[in-house]
Amino acid sequence: MENQTRDVFMEEFPPQFASTQRSLTSASPGVQLSPAATSQRIRAGIFPAAIDASRLDEAPFKARHGLMGCKALELESLTQTLLRLPENQVYTINRPLNAGDHFEENVRRARGSKALASTLHNLMDSNSLIVVNSPEVDPSFQPIYQEILASISELAAFRDPRRPVLMPTLYLFIASPNSVTPFHLDRYSTFLFQFRGSKKVAVASPWDSQVISDPDREAYVSYADTTLPWSDERERRMTHFNFHPGEALHIPFVSGHYVKNGPDDISISMSVIFNTQRTMMWRQALNFNHRARRLLRPLNITPSPVGQNALRDAGKARLWQAWLSARARANF
Ligand SMILES: [Fe+2]
Repeated sequence: MENQTRDVFMEEFPPQFASTQRSLTSASPGVQLSPAATSQRIRAGIFPAAIDASRLDEAPFKARHGLMGCKALELESLTQTLLRLPENQVYTINRPLNAGDHFEENVRRARGSKALASTLHNLMDSNSLIVVNSPEVDPSFQPIYQEILASISELAAFRDPRRPVLMPTLYLFIASPNSVTPFHLDRYSTFLFQFRGSKKVAVASPWDSQVISDPDREAYVSYADTTLPWSDERERRMTHFNFHPGEALHIPFVSGHYVKNGPDDISISMSVIFNTQRTMMWRQALNFNHRARRLLRPLNITPSPVGQNALRDAGKARLWQAWLSARARANF
């Protein structure tokens, strides 16, 4: 994936992710089409009730999760874990953010902050947000990471049983009451799990161009421009979820979303982000469109949107792969 290292949420792959990085690279040229989205109810590990796997990356939805009571996710234990993690995996933002702020820029600037210990101590009153990249490098997170990975693999196997999940990574979010995670999209498929406190999460339909325009989505996924316009009208078009401990929320690939934490308690939540063969196809097609849009502008031609036709998206993905291969050959 071009420019992979610039992703604020995948800036550095810890060593244990080498194998998943390889599977991403090797999976890319052989993009597969998804089967028709017929209902596929699957009861997978951490989800006590069956989930319709055909809804993955089609629409946001809530489910129950069975991860409550995990000691590694209690604040006292988390404090110790965060203080021993490498500084470059912890991002501490110590000022109030709004839904319309630039999310990735704020997180990037907060990387390796020295204020972690005092922020953890003053979380109730400090309007802070702590984001932790890959807490699973700590042994205390390995059991929960493996459980989550097994469960999402079961769900995603509905579309690709051979390599259902690519690049699975955890992110932890520890937030003061009322703090906000600004509007953004994920270049991944996501499940968010709530452990403490409550929040409201607003999620758009994945390809709603009234919330994120096609050119903005393509530029964001291509790392060319991660600015996203925000407005009340966009907020009105999104689905608003009240999110409580014991609940999981699926956020589809490229669905715009933002989070407002509740007023009463510190919030502890964790997400797993991952790609699938299908989301990789979309990523490549979006990269293709971003470049094609610029090249075709003088001819007054606009590329067709991604996410509407799997055959067309697969063709664009293959063209993008061919372009990357040709460019790599030219450079050597
Ligand atoms: Fe996100």
